[in-house]
Amino acid sequence: MTEPKSKNITWHKPLITCADREERNRYKGVVLWLTGLPSSGKSTLGHEVERLLFERGCNSYVLDGDNIRHGLNKNVGFSPEDRKENIRRIGEVAKLFAEAGVIVFTAFISPYREDRDQARALNEPGRFFEIYCECSVGECENRDPKGLWQRARKGEIEDFTGVSAPYEEPLTPEIIVQTDKYGLEECAEQIMRHLEEQGVIPPL
Ligand code: ADX
Repeated sequence: MTEPKSKNITWHKPLITCADREERNRYKGVVLWLTGLPSSGKSTLGHEVERLLFERGCNSYVLDGDNIRHGLNKNVGFSPEDRKENIRRIGEVAKLFAEAGVIVFTAFISPYREDRDQARALNEPGRFFEIYCECSVGECENRDPKGLWQRARKGEIEDFTGVSAPYEEPLTPEIIVQTDKYGLEECAEQIMRHLEEQGVIPPL
């Protein structure tokens, strides 16, 4: 990690700790890092689990790639350097959400292993879960809700992940959801079960 550009800055230690928040909330603030090809179901799945968590009284939030690129990250594109900066920022934001006691989802392609590992390294062990939305190129291309795969195949979009830009599969993700084999409800339940088993949320 590079050093901050600013000099003469001092870290201010908060009075309320993560443990204090957890004790009151009865669930843990964590980062659930969804990664996968375009149209692999990251956002859909994140929003579905967010809904299930909401029903259980847990505060959850989805940071979505397309949405964040309209605001905080409106000045980055899709070159490898820009994607790196996109993921660096969102890794920092996700960490802040988790520290504030939120179960935060990030739904970004995040194609590079190194960038995902850096996001992981910002968090204490047990507070970062990499969730690989495994889906074949054929199925992603079939779904293509935004028509981007089709346009990329025609050469209308450059550096498109899965067509003309790489995607590095996670090697040891905490969770693999096979979104091309199982339905939304099953994949969402798989994540909910994992969160219960890992003590992030209490069992029903
Ligand atoms: S990431 O690679 O930097 O993690 P991010 O998740 O923020 O990407 O944005 C991906 C979204 O941008 C896709 O869901 C798609 O809608 C849109 N998009 C536009 N151009 C591209 C491109 N060249 N490659 C991938 N996604 C693109």
